[in-house]
Amino acid sequence: MYGKNHFCEYFGMKGVSRRGEIGRLEKIVFLEKADQQEQLAKKWGFKASDIRELSNHEFFMPGMVDTHIHAPQYSFAGSRVDLPLLDWLNTYTFPTEVKYKDNDFAEEVYTRVVRRTLKNGTTTACYFATIHTAASLLLAEIIDKFGQRAFVGKVCMDLNEFVPEYKEDTDESVKETERFVRELLEKKYQRVQPIVSPRFGPSCTEELLRRLGDLAKARDIHVQSHISENDGEIELVAQMFPNYKHYTDLYDKNKLLTSKTVMAHGCHLSDEELKLFNLRGAAIAHCPNSNFSLCSGILNVQNVLKHNVKVGLGTDVAGGYSASMLDAIRRSMSASNTLKFNKVNETGLTLKEAFRLATLGGSEVLGLDDVIGNFEVGKEFDALLINPKASDSPFDLFAADTSEDIIQKFLYLGDDRNISEVYVAGKQVVPFSSSV
Ligand code: GUN
Ligand code: ZN
Repeated sequence: MYGKNHFCEYFGMKGVSRRGEIGRLEKIVFLEKADQQEQLAKKWGFKASDIRELSNHEFFMPGMVDTHIHAPQYSFAGSRVDLPLLDWLNTYTFPTEVKYKDNDFAEEVYTRVVRRTLKNGTTTACYFATIHTAASLLLAEIIDKFGQRAFVGKVCMDLNEFVPEYKEDTDESVKETERFVRELLEKKYQRVQPIVSPRFGPSCTEELLRRLGDLAKARDIHVQSHISENDGEIELVAQMFPNYKHYTDLYDKNKLLTSKTVMAHGCHLSDEELKLFNLRGAAIAHCPNSNFSLCSGILNVQNVLKHNVKVGLGTDVAGGYSASMLDAIRRSMSASNTLKFNKVNETGLTLKEAFRLATLGGSEVLGLDDVIGNFEVGKEFDALLINPKASDSPFDLFAADTSEDIIQKFLYLGDDRNISEVYVAGKQVVPFSSSV
């Protein structure tokens, strides 16, 4: 595909063979000015009829990366955000997640969450599933079928006082994680990878954390969990694990804080803990909708960036009530403005910085920044075609609007009605094909 208009000038994509005949990767092969068309056609061997010319108001943007989302919680997204974290987990979340022992129930919700996130421009997602291996593998299968790029984690938890039927034995949790990783890798999905997922400190024994850390290290795979989201959680971790210096130390000493780790929230991390994140190369998923909705706190993104720690945005469905990464961008602006008017920071994030967090930042968090995140030559084409003049667009354009204004209006006011096409590795995945 080749495209041009006044926003993005000109770019080209081409199938690049990978291991001979097996699969094709659609990568960006050039980014040039539109007046180079003739030379480019010669060099890359395309015809005028291969060119897709966009309307003047349309533009492509990189696909968005949701660095933290709970697929099973999508069933109650938009409801039940009226309790603080620990009560919210015990009252709403655990009783819902138990239901995923039923694969039929899982199939319905998982299909809907993948469709909803793709339609809203999430080309890559880092999912928590539940403790159930079968349903977690089903989630991976559905993601692959729809063509989304993702990490999927079977949740691990061997402690649960309030909903005792929703936990595993320590041994079972480790063995099922090994099985989940093995069976998922055996499927050889091109863009769906397993991620080791201890739920968080209060749900895990020290033994489980240690064995999962060993497993992640032995397999060299990614890790995700939650950290320092809310005061009650932090106090509980201090009580449960008195031999550790702080929450970050708990994960670090158990080999769970690595350059392949993404920890959600981190609202209350100390500078000392952030230094350890930096030392290990671990990353943070900033989930502002969830942090506001559950009244957990506010992550100081600028302080995290000052410590050279990678940050991306997450919806944290369903602690966050919206599955849209556009919402995550907007909430990150509000969170940052709150820190500014409370004089915690002198300046706030710019919209450009928030946009970067939702795209390239997210790709860095998941170790995918050499593959996706922006439109650099050599990267795979994960992209959204934005139509700010869609017939049912929720915002209006006026003659005086500059390109910059139009992009800002889309980011602040747009929604899936403006996302007319979605591509993952050059393959169009929205509108959905009739075969899925
Ligand atoms: N901490 C542990 N589990 C969860 C969860 O499901 N959601 C949120 N927001 N925090 C958690
Ligand atoms: Zn979460």
